[in-house]
Amino acid sequence: MTNNNPIGVFDSGIGGTSIWTAIHQLLPNEKTIYLADTKNAPYGQKTKQEIVDLSKKNVDFLLDMGCKLIVIACNTATTNAIKELREQYTVPFIGIEPAIKPAATNSKTQTIGILATQGTLNSELFNKATEMYQDTKIIEQVGHGLVPLIENGDLNSPEMAQLLESYLRPMIEANIDYLVLGCSHYPYLIPQIKKILPEHIQIIDSGEAVAKQTQNVLREKIGFNNGPIDDPIFYTNGNPKVLSDILENKYKIEEKIF
Ligand code: DGL
Repeated sequence: MTNNNPIGVFDSGIGGTSIWTAIHQLLPNEKTIYLADTKNAPYGQKTKQEIVDLSKKNVDFLLDMGCKLIVIACNTATTNAIKELREQYTVPFIGIEPAIKPAATNSKTQTIGILATQGTLNSELFNKATEMYQDTKIIEQVGHGLVPLIENGDLNSPEMAQLLESYLRPMIEANIDYLVLGCSHYPYLIPQIKKILPEHIQIIDSGEAVAKQTQNVLREKIGFNNGPIDDPIFYTNGNPKVLSDILENKYKIEEKIF
């Protein structure tokens, strides 16, 4: 594996492109390969073992493509499988976890909200992370139904607006001043979320932090690409149009069975 090999990024579907975009903006000279496992989305309702097995399948695919580093652009896969992946593979992994720390540290009302999948909120990793913030009230909400709607391209449907209203209204009433988006699909809902939240509530996601961490790991352990730059490659086992649309139709999408 050399520094000129690509970075691999995977998610249960199209949501991890929010993380891929942050990485691509910070590291435009890196080659990247993105894998959307849409056929198996959502991961959020699956058992830990199913999430571990699906994650391994994705990692095997990316390693076959010669990836030098793998970014797990999925909170559910990170919080349920990163330990098992690190035990089995030697390639460095970067995971994504809900950004509880900046929200809890900066909250003035000492009340924050988190919207994430059931798999993430139930995970040991997430629950250990929240233990550190005993003084902060953390309102956890599972985003039931949001990922399937996003994977269908239904971001602006009345059903989406209703679900978001029902998840966010109790948080507003509880006086949160930070909302943590604990699923890489949810940054695509920020315009819809902003219609519901009062302006003083800040929305936090983890895209930039993951991109910076990717940069650090390349600098310290692997090295940056100093060869030619190829176009990013996107693979999906779902509907290529939805993935293309979320990327504003800027890139070619490869359909693949994996
Ligand atoms: N995008 C994923 C996450 O960050 C998972 C969504 C799902 O497949 O349930 O949690």
